[in-house]
Amino acid sequence: MASKSDSTRGAVELRTIEVVVVGHPMVIGIVSSRADRRRDAGDEHRETQRGRVTRMAPVISNTASSATASTLLPQVLAHCEASQPSAVERLTALLRIPSVSTDPAFEGEVRRAAEWLTADLASMGFTAEVCKTIGHPMVVAHHPGVGSEAMHAPRVLFYGHYDVQPADPLELWTSPPFDPVVVDGPQGKRIVARGAVDDKGQVMSFLEALRSWHAIAGGPPVPVTLLLEGEEETGSRSLEPFMHEAKDRLAGDICIVSDTGMWDIDTPAITTRLRGLVYLECTVHGPTRDLHSGMYGGAVPNPIQVLADVIHSFHDGNRRITVAGFYDGVEELSAETRAQWESLGFSDAEFLGDIGLSSGFGEQGRSCLERTWSRPTLEVNGIFGGYTGKGAKTVIGAFATAKISCRLVGQQDPERIKAALKSHILARLPAGCRATFEEHGANPAISVRESSPFLTVANDALFEVYGRKPLLIGTGGSIPAVGSIKQILGMDALLIGFGLDDDRVHSPNEKFELRCFHSGTKCHAAILGKLASVKQR
Ligand code: BES
Ligand code: MN
Ligand code: MN
Repeated sequence: MASKSDSTRGAVELRTIEVVVVGHPMVIGIVSSRADRRRDAGDEHRETQRGRVTRMAPVISNTASSATASTLLPQVLAHCEASQPSAVERLTALLRIPSVSTDPAFEGEVRRAAEWLTADLASMGFTAEVCKTIGHPMVVAHHPGVGSEAMHAPRVLFYGHYDVQPADPLELWTSPPFDPVVVDGPQGKRIVARGAVDDKGQVMSFLEALRSWHAIAGGPPVPVTLLLEGEEETGSRSLEPFMHEAKDRLAGDICIVSDTGMWDIDTPAITTRLRGLVYLECTVHGPTRDLHSGMYGGAVPNPIQVLADVIHSFHDGNRRITVAGFYDGVEELSAETRAQWESLGFSDAEFLGDIGLSSGFGEQGRSCLERTWSRPTLEVNGIFGGYTGKGAKTVIGAFATAKISCRLVGQQDPERIKAALKSHILARLPAGCRATFEEHGANPAISVRESSPFLTVANDALFEVYGRKPLLIGTGGSIPAVGSIKQILGMDALLIGFGLDDDRVHSPNEKFELRCFHSGTKCHAAILGKLASVKQR
């Protein structure tokens, strides 16, 4: 633990991340501007979360003997701890807002969540705004940072999303999805609600860290901007246009994203690989109308069966994907990465057992970890056509639809994959059938260089909170924004999340362990504190 901050000084190198993203609107928040800093500097007292007034340490005057971020950090962490009960109340209030981005019926609620966050950030001295986009709004907030170190420290852009997945199927929830409850679980108390961990709880862990810095020091010790998106769960459609438009306001040196997971509840992790995603909805059309399956059956193509044949053709007997060129850009693991992953001691049996399975399924000769972190997929997420109501109806439907997604890895090119997938389908249609496509986004995989001064800072901060070094992990999921952040804003991302595998992300009874929420808050507070001593500018 010695000379942690020393090791983070000096030139900052950026990691290589390749990203291309198509997305929905975001919310951005920025911490601190010079004017704010002056204003904050004049304040000697801050109100704490609990309503007490605390004398602030003289951070802002910054003489050699005055407090620096690292000397204030213990107080900030203590404040995080003291604020835990009220932090849960605030998270509960945000979780009550059903900000389901995919369903137009919830448009007003999505906006309400953006407004709630904007008001909260404004209460911490941020200039915060609900920004219009072509879709749901983004929240952008900024604070210039307080203290003499802020001027030279890296500027942080925090990205998160405040929209959530639909709660369906409602009947499988043990309590209403937008009526959060705190219940006991084997690992302590947990909060159950849609969005608990993905991503409202994780966004709030960052806001709670900001709140404690505000209470103790008058603001964060580094300049902070937040971009909070309201369309992540529907593919981040407005994100890229918004980023181009708001490029200057979103400028920063490092992006922090909290929308991933830990290794386990005691072991923090930094995610260095995200899979990309291509999503294509395909409809096969046959006869011009639904037909009596006795009068016409056997003499005409049935779109459902044609689609089923096409789906069958996507994989060979070894579960390799047969689409031409699909594996272009897929890289085998380096010996080093393979050895590191093996050292993690991942249990396939546990991973599968948790979801009621006893054996894995997928590309032959690969482990679960390899299959989910480093191999591409082609999956059908939904399929419909013909008659799906109760009872029997004898009919040949005029069309059939499949929602197809491909997770991408390495250098796979999303546009080429999309084109190859369409050609594969079109080449397999019998005469009399045609296909139409609806596109839902195309983002490449991301990989983050595993050494950088920012990573060192994050390592130190997580070690301080957990007493354990974080593991470097991959994830099978995708966060389209990370690519755009690299491509448009030129920033690398630190993916530091606090979710657990059993959090039921996107499922009924989604939860967030309060231990994860509170230690996530402390980690963010510590990362901000330690970044202050990195001389960036
Ligand atoms: N937070 C998730 C991504 C994630 C999931 C990271 C699990 C790590 C572990 C994110 O909100 C998400 O669900 N992304 C979508 C992509 C989007 C385009 C709908 C996904 O991965 O399916
Ligand atoms: Mn998420
Ligand atoms: Mn999600």
